[in-house]
Amino acid sequence: MKKALLLAPLALFASVAMASDLDAKVAEMMKSSFKANGIASLDRQVQDEVQKACSSPTQPDAATMKRLEEAQLATVKWPEAGNYTGGDWQEGARIAISGRGLTWTDKTPDNNGGGCYNCHAMDPKEVSAGTIGPSLEGYGRIRGNSEEIVKYTWGKLWNAKAYNACSDMPRNGFGKILTETQIRHVMAYLFDPASPVNKQ
Ligand code: HEC
Repeated sequence: MKKALLLAPLALFASVAMASDLDAKVAEMMKSSFKANGIASLDRQVQDEVQKACSSPTQPDAATMKRLEEAQLATVKWPEAGNYTGGDWQEGARIAISGRGLTWTDKTPDNNGGGCYNCHAMDPKEVSAGTIGPSLEGYGRIRGNSEEIVKYTWGKLWNAKAYNACSDMPRNGFGKILTETQIRHVMAYLFDPASPVNKQ
């Protein structure tokens, strides 16, 4: 009995040591198995501060989350002349539906889709929508278009981690997935009263 108790910490130490050894092996394998091709360069494998913190087995503590979110918020590019929603909702619909882009044959950053429907319901008539994110049906109709909500939505589209450091939502503007013009079109899709998102 005594012996087993003594051995337990040793076994724990060995498994921790093995795990870190495995991590290094996996990192090495990832590095050597991928080749850069076109715009798909190997920097995609490098995690930034927020990705590292959110890939750990436990969520960062509240103070760390707050610090990471403030740093992410500082990366948001706010629109010229406060033009948040003056885009074209029809263009926005195409961007929200399309999930393609960022492959090695693509040019970037002006021909990518936002892939919003992979995670969100938007137009209530669209039957195929993901549920990883909350439903955005009726977004502008329900939320209104106060400066506060419009600004928050722009910030969320530009860099979702500014409001939830460990968000699963892609950082569209920050990650050069969507351009400022494309984000304005998606904003129109969410807020324009003529957009199907706001029809019942
Ligand atoms: C991989 C999944 C994923 C994709 C793709 C995605 N989102 Fe999200 N989104 C989320 C999740 C999850 C949340 C919930 C909050 C959080 O954790 O960030 C969210 C939150 C939001 C919110 C805030 C909702 C609220 O009630 O405050 C908006 C607006 C939004 N997403 C819009 C979009 C738009 C527009 C697109 C496409 C350009 C998009 N999202 C693409 C996962 C996604």
